[in-house]
Amino acid sequence: MNRLLIVSNRLPIKITKQKGDLSFERTAGGLATGVGSFYKSYNSLWIGWPAVNVRKNNLEEKNRICAALREEQCHPVYLSPYDVKNYYDGFCNNTIWPLFHYFNHLTEYDNHQWKVYKKVNEAFCETIVEVANPDDTIWVHDYHLMLLPQMLREHLPNAEIGFFLHIPFPSYEIFRLLPWRKEILEGLLGADLVGFHTYDYIRHFLSSVRRILGYEHSLGEVVTGNRVVRADMFPMGIDYQQFAGAVSEPAVQEEIARARGQYGDRKIILSFDRLDYTKGIPLRLEAFDAFLEKKPEYRGKVSFILVAVPSRTAIEHYQALKQQIDELVGRINGKYATTNWVPVHYFYNYLPFEALVANYKLADVALVTPIRDGMNLMAKEFVATKTDGRGVLILSEMAGAAPELGEAVIVNPNDREAVVEAIETALTMSEEEQTERNRIMQKRLRRYDVTNWAGDFINRLDDACLHQQTRSEQ
Ligand code: G6P
Repeated sequence: MNRLLIVSNRLPIKITKQKGDLSFERTAGGLATGVGSFYKSYNSLWIGWPAVNVRKNNLEEKNRICAALREEQCHPVYLSPYDVKNYYDGFCNNTIWPLFHYFNHLTEYDNHQWKVYKKVNEAFCETIVEVANPDDTIWVHDYHLMLLPQMLREHLPNAEIGFFLHIPFPSYEIFRLLPWRKEILEGLLGADLVGFHTYDYIRHFLSSVRRILGYEHSLGEVVTGNRVVRADMFPMGIDYQQFAGAVSEPAVQEEIARARGQYGDRKIILSFDRLDYTKGIPLRLEAFDAFLEKKPEYRGKVSFILVAVPSRTAIEHYQALKQQIDELVGRINGKYATTNWVPVHYFYNYLPFEALVANYKLADVALVTPIRDGMNLMAKEFVATKTDGRGVLILSEMAGAAPELGEAVIVNPNDREAVVEAIETALTMSEEEQTERNRIMQKRLRRYDVTNWAGDFINRLDDACLHQQTRSEQ
């Protein structure tokens, strides 16, 4: 196979600098974890931002970073603090992220930040043009780089270019609010194949393409003058074996035993997310509060483990949310705690892999109730670790994973009564039923794991390009 260039905002390696010394860590987040689990099995190079600030003329440091990243099949695109502020904190996470997750009231429309977004997409384009060979396959990921496919198309007209969006594509009525809606769609249509997690996101995208750009579509194909662009569905999977296999690892078993000692024989409800307003953490805590209020017989018998991974901490809405969660946890614990029972165990931290798997395995119930989520891989990871069949997933119908995980207890996260009832249903479900539901979901998740997801995307991209060639030869 040709070389695969993977392009995303973040690299799977995050570099930090302390007093001039560089250290390398694994990047958190669905994209980095998912793509990070298979990219080395391809002849691939991953291009992205190493999350470290290097002065423009510090060539010595740049060379050092470049050499270290090369070992990991990675190549850097540097961003200045100004770019990070206006492109990453700004346009990506104060415009696209809230809007595409239907948080219209949090969306900012700032023309200056849009210009920096364009400039950073151009910088990515320049780097790719420098390193690309003519027959490389280029796979661009996520909302940070939506202009890039068209920019690449202008420089490399015959390149095979795929794009995958890891977040929802919103309905036309939301998307049309964006002043730069036309440019974003044109940017995406530079690809040969545009992939989404769910059928609804494709539908929304095609409807926006038709209504904003006037291009008709049929069977997922858009004809844009001389080119055909395909839109298709690829629900991202997880590295199933990694999660299922890790459960029996000694480090995980030790962690489980340690935590068991701490929580005793209480039932455990787990909530695990990046600290993000789309995840619905306050609503979830309020539902737990209502559960303890309405069903006092459970007081002292359940522990709620809340893990919130720090994320986008420079952005005001994230800081405010952190404060809101801190206060809510304090309020709930203050209201119900006794000398030998704390209802909410709160961790504002990144969990290492072993601790994460131990938490999944230990939990009787996972409460995964985002207000809106492109996919939600944690729901899938939780199910994969249930190797003995026990454990119940409560899943929001607003997560992209919901259509695939219909055997979970599905809830509307805004319906507090329904979440309260779902918690009780989960805590009282018979072991036979838990096992049966998990068995069906596990079979599905094992079959379409992240490696198959990537293979499927790349095959369909090859196919779309072949089709394009045949069409232009006619
Ligand atoms: C989501 C996005 C990813 C992103 C991740 C972590 O999953 O789809 O592109 O990397 O969040 O967010 P961050 O802003 O830290 O990259």
